[in-house]
Amino acid sequence: MRKMFWICLFLLLAGVIIGESLNPPLDDDVLGLIVFKADLIDPDGKLASWNEDDESPCKWKGVWCNPRSNRVSDLVLDGFGLSGKMGRGLMQLKFLSKLSLARNNLTGSIGVNLAQLTNLRVIDLSENSLSGPVRNDFFEQCGSLRSISLASNKFSGQVPDSLVSCSALGYLNLSSNQFSGVLPSGVWSFNGLRFLDVSDNLFEGEIPKDIEGLYNLREIKLRKNQFTGQVPDEIGVCALLRSVDFSENSFSGSLPSSLQKLSLCNELNFHSNLFTGEITEWIGELGSLQTVDLSKNMFSGAVPNAIGNIQSLQVLNISNNRFTGSLPASIMNCQNIQVLDASQNSLTGFLPTWVFQLGLQAALFSGNKLTGSINGAFTSSINISHQNLQVIDISHNELSGEIPSDIGRFSSLRFLNMSTNSLTGEIPNTVGKLKALDSLDLSVNWLNGSIPVQIGGATSLKHLILSQNSLFGNIPSSIATCSFLTSLILSRNSLSGQLPVAMAKLADLEYVDLSFNKLTGTLPKPLANLGHLVTFNVSHNQLQGELPGGVFFNTISPSSVAGNPTLCGAAANKSCPAVLPKPIVLNPNSTGSDPDSVPQILGHKKVILSISALIAIGAAAVIVVGIIFITVLNLRVRSTMSRSAASVPLSGGDFSSSPGTDTNSGKLVMFSGEPDFSTGAHALLNKDCELGRGGFGAVYRTVLGDGRSVAIKKLTVSSLVKSQEDFEREVRKLGKIHHQNLVALEGYYWTPSLQLLIYEYVSGGNLYKHLHEHEDGNRSSLTWNERFNIILGIAKSLAHLHHLNIIHYNLKSSNILMDGLGEPKVADFGLARLLPMLDRYVLSSKIQSALGYMAPEFACKTVKITEKCDVYGFGVLVLEIVTGRRPVEYMEDDVVILCDMVRGALEEGRVDECVDERLQGKFPAEEAIPVVKLGLFCTSQVPSNRPDMAEVVNILGLIKCPSESQEESEL
Ligand SMILES: *[C@@H]1O[C@H](CO)[C@@H](O)[C@H](O)[C@H]1NC(C)=O
Ligand SMILES: *[C@@H]1O[C@H](CO)[C@@H](O)[C@H](O)[C@H]1NC(C)=O
Ligand SMILES: *[C@@H]1O[C@H](CO)[C@@H](O)[C@H](O)[C@H]1NC(C)=O
Repeated sequence: MRKMFWICLFLLLAGVIIGESLNPPLDDDVLGLIVFKADLIDPDGKLASWNEDDESPCKWKGVWCNPRSNRVSDLVLDGFGLSGKMGRGLMQLKFLSKLSLARNNLTGSIGVNLAQLTNLRVIDLSENSLSGPVRNDFFEQCGSLRSISLASNKFSGQVPDSLVSCSALGYLNLSSNQFSGVLPSGVWSFNGLRFLDVSDNLFEGEIPKDIEGLYNLREIKLRKNQFTGQVPDEIGVCALLRSVDFSENSFSGSLPSSLQKLSLCNELNFHSNLFTGEITEWIGELGSLQTVDLSKNMFSGAVPNAIGNIQSLQVLNISNNRFTGSLPASIMNCQNIQVLDASQNSLTGFLPTWVFQLGLQAALFSGNKLTGSINGAFTSSINISHQNLQVIDISHNELSGEIPSDIGRFSSLRFLNMSTNSLTGEIPNTVGKLKALDSLDLSVNWLNGSIPVQIGGATSLKHLILSQNSLFGNIPSSIATCSFLTSLILSRNSLSGQLPVAMAKLADLEYVDLSFNKLTGTLPKPLANLGHLVTFNVSHNQLQGELPGGVFFNTISPSSVAGNPTLCGAAANKSCPAVLPKPIVLNPNSTGSDPDSVPQILGHKKVILSISALIAIGAAAVIVVGIIFITVLNLRVRSTMSRSAASVPLSGGDFSSSPGTDTNSGKLVMFSGEPDFSTGAHALLNKDCELGRGGFGAVYRTVLGDGRSVAIKKLTVSSLVKSQEDFEREVRKLGKIHHQNLVALEGYYWTPSLQLLIYEYVSGGNLYKHLHEHEDGNRSSLTWNERFNIILGIAKSLAHLHHLNIIHYNLKSSNILMDGLGEPKVADFGLARLLPMLDRYVLSSKIQSALGYMAPEFACKTVKITEKCDVYGFGVLVLEIVTGRRPVEYMEDDVVILCDMVRGALEEGRVDECVDERLQGKFPAEEAIPVVKLGLFCTSQVPSNRPDMAEVVNILGLIKCPSESQEESEL
């Protein structure tokens, strides 16, 4: 109804504009603004006061009228959160003088010719998403325009030449768009222009030599374009300039000395161009300068003495040039200087003594040719009490001498880099006083002595780099108090002794390099708990024993552990003596009747399971019956193997040539027919490789000889498993199921008492961890789109299973694995079929133990259990994924059942509050709410009320991309 009204009104109005002869029946401004509003989307209701029934718009929010004429003069809607288009309603506001729509989300091109509004003085459209070229006639009648900003939009193309008509312009801001080509040349002679900002576009061409007209200019910003040519010699005529930014262009030549006339200038920024030549004494005349940035050019010659005349100077950056000579001592006079960056030049001489006497915050001299001892510079600073220094970088010079213990007085120091000099002596133990120090790099020097125990006092340290010195002694265990440490690089010294166990407390460690030292002993086992390790290089030491377990160390690159004669483990390419590896500890107290034990195979004192020519699973159970250690050795393909299945007998005792008849024999089958188990394959099935445990058994990760990982599930329900034929038939059936959202079953191993299922290895961990265990704030949680994709993937896999008449029975977030691309893969499907009977008790107690996912019919003997129990579990999963909460949560004196909680919220109309707090403000409600409703629908108490999985997949498709017709009908 309302919509129809707008359309009629608009048509009427269009007639008015075109005809221009009709007397408008209503106030022009009311009409204009209402039509303008009709083109906008106003999610926050900011324009609610704009009522078409009002006689005058003068009291509307954002609208101001001229008190005499009562016509709209100002329209200021900055930051109203508006989106949509700038419609032609504006053209009705004939007396508009200021139009400001900054910081909204307006899109499309400027469809209206604002220039026809002859009273307009100010146009501010900055920070929207307007796009396209600016129409040619846009500026044609802009004689009255004083200020225009199109900054931070997506405008492109050339700026129309009609801009020249805007000769009264004082403010022109076109920054942060994609304008290209040459600026209309008239701009360079606008007498009234005070602010010119065209930075961050694709403008090219040169600045004309003649810029005399710009004598009113206060700021010129040309940063980040493709301008070429020279800075005009005449720039000194713009004597009012306060800020000059020519950075990140391709300007060349030398800087004109007329710059010295800019005595009011605060900021000179010429960085990242192709300037050459010398900076001479003229710079001293610029008495107001606060920031000078000449970095990344090819300036040469000496740094002028006159710099010292600029009392106001705060930041001087001359880095990455070709300056030579020594820094002038006159800089001492710059009492306000805070940042001095002279790095990457060819400066010579001593490290200036004044560096530590000024109140500098950052002193950067790296990559020069400074010589002499560093002590002199430091000792002269002893009396300075106000130490502001936060950053010292004197790396890559030719400095010598010892690091003075006075370094401990720089209490604000965050970054200290003295790397790659010729420093000698010991690391002073006063470094422990640097409580704010974040990064310490003393690498590539001649330092000796040991790492001071006091280093533990530098508790903010994140990066400690002492490599390539002559340090000896132990790595102090006090290092453990530097609890933020992420990089520990101590390579190429002569450090000895054991690695401190306390290192395992450094939970943030990512990069560790201890290579080329003389470390001894074993690597502490708790290192396996370091969850963020990226590299851990201990090569070329004298370490021994077994590598710590865990996913990281089991897959560590061999080169990181090489050169340690007695270090062993899979990655060291050297198997540890049989007693060393941690075995799978099955219950040592178990008897033959316990389903978890494997007494039949291990009945003998010492049994080696091997397959002649193909497989050897070595089970070395030397100590206690029930402790087994399985090594998959020497798995090889025989090309004559049958296509459908490579079936391999495993025999107990001696190599047996008559499998099948032996009751102890096992059988390994890989469905691919070509197991990738190649010669020399070598993997441990041990407790450290355990990936997890579920209702059906524990899962281990094993690396095959070709480097491929597989996950091996050891069924703990062995006593319940069917006969061999039935088992094999069912497993083969499961092996034929392929779907991108299901974990593929690749093979199995069977003995009467031990059954292993061999699955593809999925690397990204399970969904439970992604949802509930990334709570340290640093890691980004799953986005809405990722979550939606996971829900869809699970739904598709279940639809596929149900189509094949397979019920999963055991859905839960820990059974959903994530691959490297964020695609979910459902594990453990169909395992209930391996049981002799589908018994309610077995299903609910043994298998579907996961609280909260179990459909109510499991508790009710009279209701038949169908695939709808999976739909229930899926519904719970959906709610879990969307809310980020566990299906059942135990509060202090309350138990919260997720579905009930969400259902309650839905009834009270606050569903969006249930959505995971990590997504708040970052999810489309029009998707999230239907998904929550779908989840609740799936958790209906009555099985027949729940949808089929195939229907669920269809519904999800509709939620993600609602069809055109649906959108229409909703309006
Ligand atoms: C613009 O829209 C985006 C989403 O489309 C939103 O995140 C952003 O906050 C909006 N900006 C403003 C200024 O309203
Ligand atoms: C130009 O507009 C941008 C974005 O609104 C703003 O950040 C910048 O300061 C403006 N430039 C000048 C010289 O006012
Ligand atoms: C084995 O039995 C002993 C004594 O009965 C007990 O102390 C031990 O905890 C048991 N071990 C296991 C793994 O159950």
